[in-house]
Amino acid sequence: MFKRISALVLAGLTAMSVASCGGGSGGSGGGDGSITMGFAQVGAESGWRTANTKSVQDSAKNAGVTLKFSDAQQKQENQIKAIRSYIQQKVDVIAFSPVVESGWDTVLKEAKDAKIPVILTDRAVDSKDTSLYKTFLGSDFVEEGKKAGQWLVQEYKDAKDQVNIVELQGTTGSAPANDRKAGFAQVIGADPKFKVIASQTGDFTRAKGKEVMEAFLKSNPDIDVLYAHNDDMGLGAIEAIEGAGKVPGKDIKIITVDAVKDGMQALADGKINYIVECSPLLGPQLMDLAKKVVKGEQVPARVVTEETTFTQEQAKQVLSSRQY
Ligand code: AHR
Repeated sequence: MFKRISALVLAGLTAMSVASCGGGSGGSGGGDGSITMGFAQVGAESGWRTANTKSVQDSAKNAGVTLKFSDAQQKQENQIKAIRSYIQQKVDVIAFSPVVESGWDTVLKEAKDAKIPVILTDRAVDSKDTSLYKTFLGSDFVEEGKKAGQWLVQEYKDAKDQVNIVELQGTTGSAPANDRKAGFAQVIGADPKFKVIASQTGDFTRAKGKEVMEAFLKSNPDIDVLYAHNDDMGLGAIEAIEGAGKVPGKDIKIITVDAVKDGMQALADGKINYIVECSPLLGPQLMDLAKKVVKGEQVPARVVTEETTFTQEQAKQVLSSRQY
């Protein structure tokens, strides 16, 4: 008799633990088709980020995914806290855009132990253990840096003198800052006439872009080119350049990354010379991937976003239909 009761209790416990494996009941584990996603966003540092947040929120609504959203204000500790709270709430899937590349193993391990799948969106982590996340959806930032470098090499192909470049880097330690710098350096490094005379972070914001460019202009009277890792820093730098009595796009050539509306307007106006696109519209693909991973389906380890580049003429043509 005692043996039979024990067996029943054991069977009940086993059934309970199996049921909780699917994620839990912040969501339903996808059991009734509904999914709860915890999304830990970087912040609201740029036009790109605002468009990305909107894309994620709109797509969640369209896909019938319940979204728990948090804004980490560009701080890793806030993102870690948000992820831990999603684990506690037993969401079905966690997605996040890591503010920096390093330091995620512990919290990702906690999610894995809780059997909650994680999707990286937009930015990568440098964890050696790739089983800590299911997939990474986003741009190839090295390629973006290379495209910026290729335009520069072409633009100055006949120049005999040294070309003095200043660089506004994105957030220190972030994947786009590391990779856009590396890709650019790789391409221009083939010709010694290209010299990066100053390189500093502008944290992907317009205000910091302006402040750092002001300092660059004070200590370097002979700047030929600005390479900014995003439009917002480039737009801030334009204010600094104009404030110093120079003409952006002419006295100093400007290359940026993103192609948000304000950046495209500046390109059409001739204040920026070239933009490498980085698409923030990751929401629809993210929701598709989330549904698949919650169902336990296989997804590709890496999904790379399709992107292009824009000259002034191309910016003029597409500006009115630009979504973000
Ligand atoms: O991770 C993507 C980058 O983050 C965008 O290029 C930049 O604008 C944003 O802040």
